[in-house]
Amino acid sequence: MYYENKVVWITGASSGIGEALAYALNEKGARLILSARRTDELERVKSNCKGDPDNIAVLPLDLTDTDLLAGNAKQAESLFGSVDILFNNGGISQRALALEAELDSVRRLMEINFFGTIALTKAIVPGMIERGHGHVVVTSSVMGKFGTKYRSAYAASKHALHGWFDCLRQEVIDQGVDVTLVCPGYVKTDITKNAITADGSKFDKMGSAHKEAMTPEQFADKLLPKVSAGKEEIYIAGREIWAVYLKRVFPSLLNKILRRIKVT
Ligand SMILES: NC(=O)c1ccc[n+]([C@@H]2O[C@H](COP(=O)([O-])OP(=O)(O)OC[C@H]3O[C@@H](n4cnc5c(N)ncnc54)[C@H](OP(=O)(O)O)[C@@H]3O)[C@@H](O)[C@H]2O)c1
Repeated sequence: MYYENKVVWITGASSGIGEALAYALNEKGARLILSARRTDELERVKSNCKGDPDNIAVLPLDLTDTDLLAGNAKQAESLFGSVDILFNNGGISQRALALEAELDSVRRLMEINFFGTIALTKAIVPGMIERGHGHVVVTSSVMGKFGTKYRSAYAASKHALHGWFDCLRQEVIDQGVDVTLVCPGYVKTDITKNAITADGSKFDKMGSAHKEAMTPEQFADKLLPKVSAGKEEIYIAGREIWAVYLKRVFPSLLNKILRRIKVT
């Protein structure tokens, strides 16, 4: 019932987790606004949804165009009159050693994963406060909780999201706005193919752990009941979830283990 007739705006809706969330939310009777850069892929996702196509809108945007995102948010609000739930899900990863990653590539990743995400949130939350209710969901990662080799910029961007959204929650929760941070482990999407290398070019390879991981559909099915239950932080992962718990209790032991394991 939580999602029925709600207006849900999903970024990163053109593939992977965002696409699976669109189908799962469509099944639950939500009205959807689908955003990412590739309009043709967003239209494909829309056409795969069931029911009245007028309940699904495509709103292309680029999270690096931070100056335009407030305007995009106004457009989103005008489509169905308001936005009840914002799923900040669009993002990219990186495969590069910290000392080799060029600053421009790190900045690009931060623009998408962090600045774009908070710019959109800053534009949407005031409307939620005015109406006295709303829910902002953010796809972070288990990399928002610890770090491994090759993931410095990605882990930094996801840690930054935890800092920013934990603070936001304190400021808006009494005004009816919930904030949920979601930490997936490996999910079988194109995230590694779309990841950037040290010089910003496309990595273009499927990660071996991702090949064996849960599907985005399985992930979305696990996620939605936890979001509707109002959880503040959600972990959905395979055995990599143990690293999150180990970090809390025995951080030095985790660091020793991570130093030794093969990271790709
Ligand atoms: N898959 C995993 O194992 C995993 C694990 C932890 C966290 N996550 C997180 O889950 C989220 C979704 O990733 P995914 O796994 O579904 O990978 P994905 O299939 O590569 O999806 C990424 C989405 O982000 C959008 N995007 C990328 N750059 C953008 C930009 N500049 N502006 C607007 N949208 C942009 C892409 O659409 P366009 O290319 O059309 O713009 C696409 O829809 C990400 O935040 C990722 O960090 C994934």
